[in-house]
Amino acid sequence: MRSHYCGEVDESLIDVEIEVSGWVHRRRDHGGVIFLDMRDREGLLQVVFDPDRADIFAIAERVRNEYVLHIKGKVRHRPEGTINPNMQTGKIEVLAHELEIVNRSATPPFQIDDKDVSEEHRLRYRYVDLRRPEMLERLKLRSSINRELRNYLDERGFLDIETPMLTKATPEGARDYLVPSRTHDNAFFALPQSPQLFKQLLMVSGLDRYYQIVRCFRDEDLRADRQPEFTQLDIETSFLNEEQIMSLAEEMIRMLFSKVLDVQLPDPFPRMSYDEAMTRYGSDKPDLRINLELVDIGDVLENVEFKVFSGPAKDPKGRVAALRLPAGNTLTRKEIDDYTKFVGIYGAKGLAYIKVNDLSKGREGLQSPILKFLPDQVTDTIMTRVGAETGDLVFFGADKAKIVNEALGALRVKLGHDRGFTQGDWAPLWVVDFPMFEKDERSDRWHSLHHPFTAPQEDDIEKLESDPGNCYSRAYDMVLNGTELGGGSIRIYRPEVQRKVFKALGISDEEANDKFGFLLDALKYGCPPHGGLAFGMDRLVMLMTGAHSIREVMAFPKTQTAACLLTNAPSEVSFNQLRELGIKLAKPSVEQSNP
Ligand code: AMO
Ligand code: AMP
Repeated sequence: MRSHYCGEVDESLIDVEIEVSGWVHRRRDHGGVIFLDMRDREGLLQVVFDPDRADIFAIAERVRNEYVLHIKGKVRHRPEGTINPNMQTGKIEVLAHELEIVNRSATPPFQIDDKDVSEEHRLRYRYVDLRRPEMLERLKLRSSINRELRNYLDERGFLDIETPMLTKATPEGARDYLVPSRTHDNAFFALPQSPQLFKQLLMVSGLDRYYQIVRCFRDEDLRADRQPEFTQLDIETSFLNEEQIMSLAEEMIRMLFSKVLDVQLPDPFPRMSYDEAMTRYGSDKPDLRINLELVDIGDVLENVEFKVFSGPAKDPKGRVAALRLPAGNTLTRKEIDDYTKFVGIYGAKGLAYIKVNDLSKGREGLQSPILKFLPDQVTDTIMTRVGAETGDLVFFGADKAKIVNEALGALRVKLGHDRGFTQGDWAPLWVVDFPMFEKDERSDRWHSLHHPFTAPQEDDIEKLESDPGNCYSRAYDMVLNGTELGGGSIRIYRPEVQRKVFKALGISDEEANDKFGFLLDALKYGCPPHGGLAFGMDRLVMLMTGAHSIREVMAFPKTQTAACLLTNAPSEVSFNQLRELGIKLAKPSVEQSNP
């Protein structure tokens, strides 16, 4: 029903008879002439209906927004003075000589070009929302990104292999989505948090290079860059070391940015250890576009009277850090209060500060409610260490290191954006040398920082059981503009090392056999050294399209409470379905309790 897409009609088609199908974007009646902007996925096209053609003119009078039309007509130049430079097809129009209303539309829930529609409404009527040009553009870009990535990997001998969705739990740190089995009593499948174990098994099978663009499921607290189901570009290779894998991955991302956005990313990407990232930026995914840094000052504060500082300074798990904001002493009381509230979100109990009004006047030139608690020599040392200059404002955080890192790390990003301390558009980075484990304060147990199949650095294998807190892994994360784009590692390929890691994690032999027996078995049958990584496709597309949330780059995303407003999922199921599955609800709904 078309010879061209609306958005593709241009001056090369002047006087050509064309045929287009699409939606009515807008209708205007102008002194007896009707203008329709027709829309399809490639753009808008102005169609003119002349009253001379009474038959089709009468039909054109009846069309409303979002009706589906099929039109034949001749392309012509727009008359002088009516050219629209803001429209892709703004120089031409089509004079219609045939018009068919293919389908009507009820009054749309919102106008396609209305910018002020709530996200709830947009998700409820997603099929209308996706008609917006910016949504279409993002989905189109996403499709080209997938194609470029597939081509890159295909050319390098990677095999695209599917892995199961109904499977056993993969520990990636979130809760599982479970699927009850009808045929096995009291048994459940888990939807994969990632294909991690299957891709490792493919390496045991000798497939050597695997990739998959694959859906993953994680029941976790949602944010702007997290969804319960999301897509990974998942990669695994055999006989490559971390250098080779990182170089392959970064070359792929450079190729992608160059081809799709015409952006040249640095070669190579900078690298930073996890410890350095935490010390300087309070984050393992620092946004390097922001040139503000945290500075440790705990060592000079151990003996001051001010308990807020000396306490964490003396605590081995504490941290006292400063964050210098150049030219920040103009912040008002209200602004400082707002930043104090902001760090409160991350658990900070306050946000001490010193305004540097005139550094040449020493202490007299400083202004702060905490000066009275600090000896001159201590303030001098701090000012020198942070490199303070007249006009600056220095913020302080003191607490458990985790809180200080999160609070000042987030403040750094916020100040960077609020006060214009950013440089460049793209700041990729590899974060390397991650600790193997971190302590969960509540359970007092060690957790994997990545997943339990991540190989420890060779020198640390001996320390796995005696000193897990000081073991480092062979993991690497790719960070872009403060977002963790992807991550991976060299894997454990020897069963005895895998058992040691399980032990360090407090997983007994019995539990390990029960949960991962198939992996431990596979490691016995000639497992090659292997490693890989996975990229978060939604995050990648979000960054590449400049969207603010991954929901904007997914066709049918879920809300912050993990619901689909379009289909109303999750929803109740019938009593019979539950009975077949052998499930009894603790609190059945009225309908379910009265079958
Ligand atoms: P990881 O858990 O780091 O590693 O996940 C890889 C990447 O997936 C993205 N991601 C998400 N995106 C949207 N919503 C979510 N809920 C979500 N969770 C993760 C991130 C992240 O960097 N199997 C390992 C990879 C490996 O070791 O090869 C894994 O899944 O961008
Ligand atoms: P207070 O003595 O509690 O009034 O605190 C004095 C200053 O220290 C105020 O500016 C507080 O915001 C700040 N403050 C309090 N607790 C902390 C903390 N844990 N880290 C940084 N600053 C703090």
